[in-house]
Amino acid sequence: MVWAFVFVLLGACCRAEGTNAGLKGRVTQKGLEYGQQFGLEAVKSLLKKEHVPDLNGSYNIPLIGDVGYSVSRIQIQELQLNESVVSFSEGTGVRLVISNAHIQLHGVWRVKVLFVPDSGSFDLSVSDLSLSTELGVSRDDSGRLQVWSSNCRSSIGRLDVKFHDGASWLYNLFTGALQAPLRYEVNRQLCPELGKGISDLERVLKTMQVSAQIDPFAAIDYSLVNKPVIAREHGDMDLKGEFYGVGKHRESPFSPAPFLLPDEGDHMLLLGLSEFSANSAAFVYFTAGALRKNFSDDMIPKRSPVRLNTGSMGLFFPELKQLYPDMPMELHLSARKQPLLTCRPDSLDLVLLGTAEAFVVLPNATLASAFLLDLDASLAGQLHLDSAKVGGSVALTDFSLSVVRSHVGSVQVKTLETLLKLALRMVALPMANKKLKKGFPLPSVYNLSLVNSHVKINQGFVLVATDVQYKA
Ligand SMILES: *[C@@H]1O[C@H](CO)[C@@H](O)[C@H](O)[C@H]1NC(C)=O
Ligand SMILES: *[C@@H]1O[C@H](CO)[C@@H](O)[C@H](O)[C@H]1NC(C)=O
Ligand SMILES: *[C@@H]1O[C@H](CO)[C@@H](O)[C@H](O)[C@H]1NC(C)=O
Ligand SMILES: *[C@@H]1O[C@H](CO)[C@@H](O)[C@H](O)[C@H]1NC(C)=O
Ligand SMILES: *[C@@H]1O[C@H](CO)[C@@H](O)[C@H](O)[C@H]1NC(C)=O
Repeated sequence: MVWAFVFVLLGACCRAEGTNAGLKGRVTQKGLEYGQQFGLEAVKSLLKKEHVPDLNGSYNIPLIGDVGYSVSRIQIQELQLNESVVSFSEGTGVRLVISNAHIQLHGVWRVKVLFVPDSGSFDLSVSDLSLSTELGVSRDDSGRLQVWSSNCRSSIGRLDVKFHDGASWLYNLFTGALQAPLRYEVNRQLCPELGKGISDLERVLKTMQVSAQIDPFAAIDYSLVNKPVIAREHGDMDLKGEFYGVGKHRESPFSPAPFLLPDEGDHMLLLGLSEFSANSAAFVYFTAGALRKNFSDDMIPKRSPVRLNTGSMGLFFPELKQLYPDMPMELHLSARKQPLLTCRPDSLDLVLLGTAEAFVVLPNATLASAFLLDLDASLAGQLHLDSAKVGGSVALTDFSLSVVRSHVGSVQVKTLETLLKLALRMVALPMANKKLKKGFPLPSVYNLSLVNSHVKINQGFVLVATDVQYKA
């Protein structure tokens, strides 16, 4: 009994849901419908350029015998796909249903009747064309998206052909007879042609990058970690979303926690950016030694009353002035541990643990270590997103300082802490906030820009709900 109970509990709590994702993306029905709009336009312009395969065949006309025909140089002149519907196909991918489509084709015909060849051009009008197909989506072993077509069915209601040139007595003889085989041939080719297009797409997907280098230090892995999950009203993709160091790959101490995108269908896309992704990035920059900066007096704002020299710093280190009268100083700031980001509902919490080592610059330019401080700061941040820019604001929630060692005697810790806190609140953060308020432009990918975007900080992740706009 007890074991059965334990197994039921285990089954309930730890169902194999696959690997946890660092980034999640969702396409809603609204997104799919927008995609269909410009997707069909793209298909139309592609098809108009595309070479339509030649058709050859023969058929038998009573009394005359076998007629061999070929049609070639077929071009699509018009394509109307007004009544097409795309929807999610639960568990598979996307279903496309086209009904009452109309295609106008132009091409060259050749026939051989009783060994007499004849040729000319023709206009072919296919109406009442219906096609339904499914585009299955999955994930391959390398984490790339995989697609295939399945359950393709097509039918043609009417096919009218008008011949030009050639001997009219000849083709008038068999116009009626040619309609049926042509209709059969055109219909027979539709699904295989569509399948070829999807195979081409699959080949492109196979060569797609699943990681991108961001700067000399970091790259991001955005391969799929799970098979896309297609529900009735949306399709979800789980991406790894982990940053790694360029050159040397060090396992980060973080692992993604599960999170769920909320149900909302008002936007085309939902993106979930986990704190795991941000922390894996911070880990990369920290281990690469990128989170350090040296300050000298000329980098301190001119209007600051406190300077980086022994005279000014002597306020907090009374013996400094006596040991090194009137000498410039340098401050080396670095992260002591990797910065840690936590997402709480409506706030981003950032903990920065740093050290600051101060040096006196001796007349022969050697640096003499003066003191070493540990600085711990907590910040709370907000994010905002408008059209193509991401911005935000930060506020200091906590700051403390401790002296690790001093070669210059006793330290006025409280005074120094109060002054640094003031400097952060009055100078550093307002400067940062001014930049953050202006925001940073988001890159436009495949000419898609974000419109009507909202950002919300949830437990463990930042949710971006947005529409997209395509501008060619
Ligand atoms: C159709 O026949 C023509 C000549 O009759 C030939 O050149 C062409 O390659 C054939 N095309 C196909 C697709 O069989
Ligand atoms: C389909 O759309 C075209 C314009 O894109 C329009 O001319 C045509 O009348 C429409 N056909 C139907 C059946 O709605
Ligand atoms: C800071 O200065 C030290 C000593 O001069 C040097 O080794 C280090 O590379 C400098 N760091 C940066 C980020 O410039
Ligand atoms: C620089 O001067 C200090 C003291 O004046 C001395 O201890 C140190 O050895 C000097 N360094 C160099 C490289 O000359
Ligand atoms: C994006 O738009 C530019 C013109 O503004 C066009 O040249 C380019 O081909 C488009 N790229 C894509 C991927 O659609």
